Amino acid sequence: MNLRTQSLPVKILFTCFLGTIGIAYLSAITYLFLIDIEPHAKGNLGIVHAVIIKYYGQRGTTRLEAALDGGMGENITPAQKKQISEWIRKGALPSGFESIKPIFLNNCTVCHSKESGMPISPLTSFDEVAAYTQIDIGQSVKSLVRVSHIHLFGMSFLFLLTSWIFVLSEIAVKWRAILVSVPFLAIWIDIGSWWFTKFEPLFAYTVIAGGALMGLSLASQIIISLWEMWLKKGK
Ligand code: HEC
Repeated sequence: MNLRTQSLPVKILFTCFLGTIGIAYLSAITYLFLIDIEPHAKGNLGIVHAVIIKYYGQRGTTRLEAALDGGMGENITPAQKKQISEWIRKGALPSGFESIKPIFLNNCTVCHSKESGMPISPLTSFDEVAAYTQIDIGQSVKSLVRVSHIHLFGMSFLFLLTSWIFVLSEIAVKWRAILVSVPFLAIWIDIGSWWFTKFEPLFAYTVIAGGALMGLSLASQIIISLWEMWLKKGK
């Protein structure tokens, strides 16, 4: 039984499933772009740099200063920025906060407060601001564990189903064998590299390579399956 000779209801089911997965994948890519790439692209940083910032962090600086060097810098004068940096270099102590508090109240709390209703952290008190003055070492182990297990559980089912449909295709058995394993290999590379990047920024390249490999293998599975079901002529 191959894809071409499946009954109409089965073909429609497979098509709906593969189409939905394709759309979901494109949304995931768009989400990734909007959250991780675009905010940094404003500061002319490429995708590799964005990945490094996400997993390795910016270790010469704090999250607050990194934000002010990036998009948040538009809301503040260089002199005010310097004042904040000096406060951080002196240890970000409660005693020095009073003198810089007005900077936050005047320039930041329009957005960074509970009242604004925006889904971002408030910056109205010492504790809230101080939380951003730690050295930025990228995603915490806790959040990496969380995202890793969710992705591994979720993606394994997804790839099982797309690959199961795809193995019914008529391309050479050798290629089918390769193409059912590549998505799994890609997710191991991708997620493994998140962890490695936390310790060595060079692995940002394998994060991107893993992600690209996953997209390409998933796309080929979907396109080949759809083509054989609907367009390929029987012999
Ligand atoms: C016009 C609204 C607006 C103003 C004004 C604003 N911010 Fe933000 N800020 C945002 C939004 C939206 C985000 C989340 C998206 C992002 O990271 O770009 C954010 C994110 C941040 C972050 C988090 C970055 C991270 O590492 O997660 C910090 C820190 C920050 N802002 C500091 C400031 C400071 C300091 C000021 C004042 C000088 C300020 N912001 C003014 C809207 C604003």
